[in-house]
Amino acid sequence: ERGGFPHFMLKEIFEQPQTLENTMRGRVILEEGFTKLGGLNLTKEQLLAIDSITITACGTSWHSALIGEMMIEELCRIPVEVEYASEYRYRNPIVSPNTLVIVISQSGETADTLAAMREAKRRGARTLGLVNVVGSTIAREDDGGVYLHAGPEIGVASTKAFTSQVVALALFTLKLARLRNLGIERGREIAQALLRLPGQVQSILDRADEIQELADQFKNAHNFLYLGRGYNFPTALEGALKLKEISYIHAEGYPAAEMKHGPIALIDDLMPVVVVAPHDSVFDKVVSNVQEVKARKGRVIGITTRDEESLAGKLDYEFRIPETVDMLMPILASVPLQLLAYYIAVKRGCNVDQPRNLAKSVTVE
Ligand code: F6R
Repeated sequence: ERGGFPHFMLKEIFEQPQTLENTMRGRVILEEGFTKLGGLNLTKEQLLAIDSITITACGTSWHSALIGEMMIEELCRIPVEVEYASEYRYRNPIVSPNTLVIVISQSGETADTLAAMREAKRRGARTLGLVNVVGSTIAREDDGGVYLHAGPEIGVASTKAFTSQVVALALFTLKLARLRNLGIERGREIAQALLRLPGQVQSILDRADEIQELADQFKNAHNFLYLGRGYNFPTALEGALKLKEISYIHAEGYPAAEMKHGPIALIDDLMPVVVVAPHDSVFDKVVSNVQEVKARKGRVIGITTRDEESLAGKLDYEFRIPETVDMLMPILASVPLQLLAYYIAVKRGCNVDQPRNLAKSVTVE
């Protein structure tokens, strides 16, 4: 059942070319730079009337929500709030008839996420569920939905569901943006980039042994810092969460520039710092943050996309990933971070599929 893999988590990481394909199947219309989502249950008029969006979720699903926020605000120009479901449900949230509340949950059963959705409905919002498990409670109670079609996720640490969530958010964003103001050229560019993802993820997986070697170097670290900016700030959060939950190494994700307001005090020659530094709109800014780490003798692992002059001599280790549009980069950048967490945890003798104190679906508040 693990398909020849030693753990479900590794199997699920390696399934991603296929699961991403499944999330997109029949939904991307390349020529029109548009997407088709059959389950939204919203007319074109209702979609166009949306004037604010709240996305609510927990854990890894909350990280994909943060990426969704950036995508929707960038392309649709609609204000988006992201809320932990456990906070949203108790904070007297502001909902208007034109507020869309997007609920993201792999299991569709997370107690706080379900309660947040019920609260949003009670206040008159329309709800849209991005759910993996077919027929789960959230999928049954939402007003409309986008199934991830990633297949059963058994490993407690979410991997393939996360990348499918980001794709589902991109599909929704592209549809809404094209209905509103996004030109066909840009739409096509994003659709094209989406369709290229499975092959690009495969090309990263083909080099998993490089990450395995990296894991050897760092398996005894006590702390890790993960840095990124823009779309890859949530990638940094997700990378840190993966490592802490399965290897029990303390890790923090931070927006790279915010580090100098506190966490920089932690950096010494024992501190591995994973920097997500693709060639995107904030690349130059990230380079100066890498410099700040290097000046304090941190050991820098760079996730990069190009041979960059400005990074020369600043990285102790480098892992190169393919390029894509900025909004989809977290999908590619997350894969080596999933592998890094996995291999470190295995080398430390941890039970990666069933980490201590964790359950696959958190059905208590
Ligand atoms: C982390 C992880 C959890 C879940 C969270 C929400 O790897 O799996 O943080 O993401 O418990 O679960 P769902 O998405 O099922 O609502």
